Amino acid sequence: SAATTYEAESATVSQGAVESNHAGFSGTGFVNYDNTTGSYVQFAVDAATSGPATLTLRYANGTAVNRPMAIAVNGTTSTIDFPGTGVWTNWQEATVTTTLNAGANTVRATATTANGGPNLDRIVV
Ligand code: GCU
Ligand code: CA
Repeated sequence: SAATTYEAESATVSQGAVESNHAGFSGTGFVNYDNTTGSYVQFAVDAATSGPATLTLRYANGTAVNRPMAIAVNGTTSTIDFPGTGVWTNWQEATVTTTLNAGANTVRATATTANGGPNLDRIVV
């Protein structure tokens, strides 16, 4: 089915801030995760049908250190890497395959290290 974009600046943010000081984001900004374990962005994702789906997360990490995050979808978690992108204005994509329910789904991307998450622009489902 057609891809849907969910902007991070429109999602639920815990321990983070919507900012726009690094160019190249889509929409009106991105989320700067607080640099702490447990900071998260949570998306309400609507799916037409149940089954496997690829989540594409667009992010920037202007450090040399990976900032892995736990991607929880309806309570099932996969941890994926968000390696450095060189500078904060270089946005890259990371993907994870998950299973969606028909209708409402909760997708939460939680920082798993004290560095927090990368800057997160959006997810596309
Ligand atoms: C810098 C950068 C932020 C980023 C932060 C970090 O302050 O401007 O956008 O989130 O580093 O290291 O997490
Ligand atoms: Ca940050």
